[in-house]
Amino acid sequence: MRKKIVAGNWKMNTLPAEGVELAKQVAAGKHTVCDCVSFIVCPPFTHLSEVSKTLEGTGIAVGAQNCAAEAKGAYTGEVAASMIAALGCKYVILGHSERRQYYGETSGTLNRKMEQAYANNLVPIYCVGENLDEREAGKHFDVVKAQIEEVVYNLTPEQFGKLVIAYEPVWAIGTGKTATAEQAQEIHAYIRKVLAAKFGAAAEECPILYGGSCKPSNAAEIFAKEDVDGGLIGGAALKAEDFLAIGKGF
Ligand code: G3P
Repeated sequence: MRKKIVAGNWKMNTLPAEGVELAKQVAAGKHTVCDCVSFIVCPPFTHLSEVSKTLEGTGIAVGAQNCAAEAKGAYTGEVAASMIAALGCKYVILGHSERRQYYGETSGTLNRKMEQAYANNLVPIYCVGENLDEREAGKHFDVVKAQIEEVVYNLTPEQFGKLVIAYEPVWAIGTGKTATAEQAQEIHAYIRKVLAAKFGAAAEECPILYGGSCKPSNAAEIFAKEDVDGGLIGGAALKAEDFLAIGKGF
């Protein structure tokens, strides 16, 4: 039985005090959601420590939104996976489309970041997804296949067993234009097929999350699909009530 995961990617939002308060609100409402749902919150680096301390013992995991491709050293402004792990984080989002688009992250960089994550016992939430032009050109299968083959295929079976994948159609991120449940299922099933080609039956156990304007109003329909194992939530994660309501979508 695959894990059901609702992860909140706060992106570059909330000041530290606001983030701690948001975390407290999510923790206060967690009991209203089935224990079968695992919640993860991913604050900005600046309040990873405070949020992690706030959520200690609540069963809500904490993740970072990125990590350095290097282990340590003269890399001004970077944050090492070891530093993230030392703060009690269990997850790290890697390959988010905004990092690929705005900061030029390539598969080569992401392979190195994945290695750093695993070396520090962090579970990567590896993001794949096509942009609008690629979707309209019918290239979305090719795009996600390449993103998986260039990075995930380099993992050992043991590393693959500790991976979460997030499919995020770029054209649905922050736009209010959500993929339909059928569109999500179609590409999630395809992603699982691509994973199985390399990792066999273990692909059945890999959680594949949907991200892109997932809201309380559409979560249940999307999460009901066979190959959708939860969501990577942006805007709706910034309101505890909405984030918890999405968890009730299962
Ligand atoms: O990582 C999740 C994010 O990209 C989705 O954003 O605001 O469309 O839920 P949003």
